[in-house]
Amino acid sequence: MKKNDSNIKKATKYLSNNECIAIPTETVYGLAANAYSNKAVTRIYKLKKRPRNNPLIVHYYSLKDLKKDCEIDITFKRLFKSFCPGPISFVLKLKKKSKISKIITNNSNSIAVRFPSHPLTRKLLKKINFPLAAPSANISTSISPVSKQDVVDEFGNRLKFILDGGSSKIGLESTIINLIGKPHILRLGGINSKLIYKIINSSEIKYKKKIKIKVPGTSKLHYSPGIPLRLNAKKNFLNEAFILINKRRDFNKNYFYLSKTNNLKEAAKNLYSVLRTIKKNGYKKIAIEKIPNISIGEAINDRILRASKK
Ligand code: TXA
Ligand code: MG
Repeated sequence: MKKNDSNIKKATKYLSNNECIAIPTETVYGLAANAYSNKAVTRIYKLKKRPRNNPLIVHYYSLKDLKKDCEIDITFKRLFKSFCPGPISFVLKLKKKSKISKIITNNSNSIAVRFPSHPLTRKLLKKINFPLAAPSANISTSISPVSKQDVVDEFGNRLKFILDGGSSKIGLESTIINLIGKPHILRLGGINSKLIYKIINSSEIKYKKKIKIKVPGTSKLHYSPGIPLRLNAKKNFLNEAFILINKRRDFNKNYFYLSKTNNLKEAAKNLYSVLRTIKKNGYKKIAIEKIPNISIGEAINDRILRASKK
């Protein structure tokens, strides 16, 4: 406990000096910096090699803090009450008097925000008097990190500090819902979209796969393991890593289990680390078993579909 306190102190110090650090969240690790400082957020773009037109998600501790920067409505309030803090991000209108760096929003008047539930990061957000811009802590287009070691693998010693919060519980990024105009989901993620439809009592927000998405970060190039990925595989070929969600009777050194009991939550949590392990082990090709397209399986399928595109 004491160690956590001293680490939060360190994190606070770096962030207050406009430095960029990694923070744990329940979805994936984030590369965080003061969202009110141009200097701080510029560091995020440089470190991540992120295109400047790709806006960042801003992380808040409380509704009170958020209201300083964003307009909210009844739909937002309902969703906030049901899912926050937790793995959901909202695209909202920025207030004119907001202090959010224009670099974060690429000069637009909308902003993506969220309230992470990881206890360490909540403690940190409570302590500082600014919100944190934090995209996933990986080099642009690569796989999001779900542990301190993954962040080290991405950035080596180029990061001043990583707040270690263990492995991310959910393992996939937050669901993003755009609440400007008709609510619609921009990215499937940690919260099952069906639960969202229920709360706002709407069938209109259905996520449309074929929709022309303007958000750069939802492009097909994202979440790439850097080697070919074959979907819906029934068996693996020689030297091909095989990702499974159900236990197989036979043993094969190339089998990698997301879960042995078809448990989708467990599979989501393990997906990115299994992809990393396979790459580290030097495989040149991956096959993956069919993943049921229900609950968080939808988000898993979204990510592996993008990862399979060349
Ligand atoms: O779970 C998460 O959301 C993680 C953790 C660290 O919070 N963050 C994350 O950030 O996944 P990032 O930057 O890797 O993905 C955010 C996505 C990007 O695709 C970005 O284009 C989109 O959100 N985005 C950010 N601001 C937006 C806005 N104003 N309107 C629409 N999309 C936006
Ligand atoms: Mg990302």
